[in-house]
Amino acid sequence: MTARLVVLVSGAGTNLQALLDATADPGFGAQVVAVGADRDGIVALERARRHTVPTFVCRLADYPDREGWDRGLAELIGGYQPTLVVSAGFAKLFGEHVLHRFAGMLINSHPSLLPSFPGLRAPRDAIDYGVKVTGVTVFMVDAGVDSGPVIAQAAVPVVDGDDEETLHERIKSVERGLVVDTVRRMVQDGFRVEGRKVLIG
Ligand code: GRF
Repeated sequence: MTARLVVLVSGAGTNLQALLDATADPGFGAQVVAVGADRDGIVALERARRHTVPTFVCRLADYPDREGWDRGLAELIGGYQPTLVVSAGFAKLFGEHVLHRFAGMLINSHPSLLPSFPGLRAPRDAIDYGVKVTGVTVFMVDAGVDSGPVIAQAAVPVVDGDDEETLHERIKSVERGLVVDTVRRMVQDGFRVEGRKVLIG
């Protein structure tokens, strides 16, 4: 059976693009059935439309409060009956409705080797700390900030002279492959979560 992916985005959507390209092959075992965003006018939504994938926008400003927004987002995602929800550069924290409804099937990627450098400035924090190796982590989303069980990681060197942008681009070139490969393994081989461990296959 072909797995149904809902991908959540907020920006450039290069991870989304990698998923759209990979899932164009029916042998991948999954298709992107919808792309959701927290804002309009982003390149990621154009990428989805170019692939004729349905899109939805769930703006915080359109709801009376954050809880209403979170409930609305859960409904929108759920309407596409996903088997896996992939947060690919989605720039907001999820609330209890999304977390509860998609528990164990909501994954995210983060541009550091967690638990080092959680939060929004991971590449900058890695440079400021002076580490020589950082990387990317694909993880199961839980109620904390970048704190859920790790699914996959890859290391990326920090090079002398790196700034936030050059390092983040180097990380993203690895991240795209790791996200695609991890989703592929999860949908093809199955997975289960045992405490902090995510076991694929
Ligand atoms: C990725 O590095 C992701 O881990 C981080 O923001 C970036 C999104 O990139 N949260 P893109 O929108 O997929 O190009």
